[in-house]
Amino acid sequence: MKKFTSETLRETYLKFFGGKGHAIIPSASLIPENDPTVLFTTAGMHPLVPYLLGEKHPAGRRLCDVQKCVRTGDIDEVGDSAHCTFFEMLGNWSLGDYFKEEMIPWSFEFLTSEEYLGIPADDIAVTCFAGDGDCPRDEESARLWQECGIKKEHIFFLPKSGNWWGPAGTTGPCGPDTEMHIIRNHEEADKLAPDQFDDAPKGTFLEIWNDVFMQYNKNAEGKYEPLKQKNVDTGMGLERTLCILNGKDSVYETDIFERAIQKIETLTGKKYGEGGEITKAFRVVLDHVRTATFMLGDTKGVVPSNTDQGYILRRIIRRAVRFGRNIGLPQGALKDVAATIVEKYAQVYPELVKNSSKIYEELEKEELKFSRTLQQGLKEFEKVAAALSESGEIDGATAFHLYDTYGFPVEITGEMAREKGLTVDVKGYEAAFSEHQEKSRAGSEQKFACGLADHKEETTRLHTATHLLQAALRRVCSPDIEQKGSNITEERLRFDFNFARKLTPEEVAAVEELVNGVIAQNIPVVMEEMSLEDAKKQGFTGLFESKYGERVKTYSIGDFSKEICGGPHAATTGELGTFKIVKQENVSAGVKRIKAVLINE
Ligand code: ALA
Repeated sequence: MKKFTSETLRETYLKFFGGKGHAIIPSASLIPENDPTVLFTTAGMHPLVPYLLGEKHPAGRRLCDVQKCVRTGDIDEVGDSAHCTFFEMLGNWSLGDYFKEEMIPWSFEFLTSEEYLGIPADDIAVTCFAGDGDCPRDEESARLWQECGIKKEHIFFLPKSGNWWGPAGTTGPCGPDTEMHIIRNHEEADKLAPDQFDDAPKGTFLEIWNDVFMQYNKNAEGKYEPLKQKNVDTGMGLERTLCILNGKDSVYETDIFERAIQKIETLTGKKYGEGGEITKAFRVVLDHVRTATFMLGDTKGVVPSNTDQGYILRRIIRRAVRFGRNIGLPQGALKDVAATIVEKYAQVYPELVKNSSKIYEELEKEELKFSRTLQQGLKEFEKVAAALSESGEIDGATAFHLYDTYGFPVEITGEMAREKGLTVDVKGYEAAFSEHQEKSRAGSEQKFACGLADHKEETTRLHTATHLLQAALRRVCSPDIEQKGSNITEERLRFDFNFARKLTPEEVAAVEELVNGVIAQNIPVVMEEMSLEDAKKQGFTGLFESKYGERVKTYSIGDFSKEICGGPHAATTGELGTFKIVKQENVSAGVKRIKAVLINE
């Protein structure tokens, strides 16, 4: 097979789909904009949900990109050869444009053509949706694959559990998919009947790409409603594909981590290839430092904290510190490993270079904070563990003590307990935690079931109110105020912004009065597409990270508010009702949160 580097694989993919009329759009932030269903972007389609549901995308109906993604569900598995918490997803989309008849032959061409990946067609197996009460069996995809040249005996069918894809939140656009796999063991593969794909021994197939035929929206009741438009959503994991194409045993052995491995070897005197616990510790440090670097360096950068994204980041950094200690990684060295990551990705993600001082400072700070208590905490843990009988359980109050006093996230305590055959009473821990702290961290990455993505009228109105709130805050409090996060459900908006203190009652009243004044004037909300350059010139605010994305959608509300935004919005401010701030919270030293509602009587 042809050999690739991460750089050439990205380029090859974008060149192929660019050549098929796709606009190359920039990777969106790792922190989902206006999507309250998850804490991080988990797939290439995530930032595109509004467009998959029918909003018009300014770059057109054919898009492709390389998207930064984070999935932390399997964080404890990191250390084996396959798991990563950060990855890049190569993807292309049809927003109501082409469908299976085009996508499947293109997938075949990209995978097999000598000009692109050059994989022999006989080494490819595909799976298609087997059909059920919600959606018929996908004979069409199977036929298209066969016409392209995939052997009939390499075409398999799987039910929803295998060949259906929707985003990580519980609701949203979804549909049957067809997945492409490299056959690593022909002898085993050839024994299987069309419905026996899952019976193959591990390692027979390696998944390489997924084409989703998005035709449904799963609503809050769990029903599949047909979408207005039929979309295609595809995803190819960059690291995994690189690993398979280059015949490597693990993603950690691709060019991505080369410099970082050398750095850790120099710092510790250990060798990555030593195997066992040493290799595992190397991989945990490599993965977690890379993820932390991307989180800290994101355009909407996260910093370690005790809630939401900040908590996940804290947990990742602390887990890296713990495993780093196992191979003698000196204190303060995480930032040196991070520097190799920034260097490796500098061309593709310039935000890492721009934010590099912040990345190094925050890593150093968090590492120092945890290192101060790590040794003592480990001693305390050993004491607790020794006092328990085999297969005993660490009670909630003790787990909370380990967190509160020694900074051990409960998941880390859980992992250390498992290493000794013990468990942790997580429920008891949570009870102890909420007793001590009013604000508890997100229990999982999936927090809310409905948000802007559902496009309900109420949610859309609150989205428009969020723009008015931001504009009013800039006038009343400081022109430097910027959005640091936003989360909109049909009941309320939540807006995070940079400001040193809570608003005074007078400021709250002034903001409400300004917003309600604009609502009373019933001003139309005007959408206009323009180049990013023009938008900047005309004073629209928003994220200016675009590298390729030239045309953007802008929304203006008279002269009061001008933002770059994907929509959707209310047609006029008169629809909004009465705006009221219901709560202020402290997110971190420099970030405050406002929750507000619209009252309609
Ligand atoms: N969104 C699809 C996936 O993540 C392509 O597999």
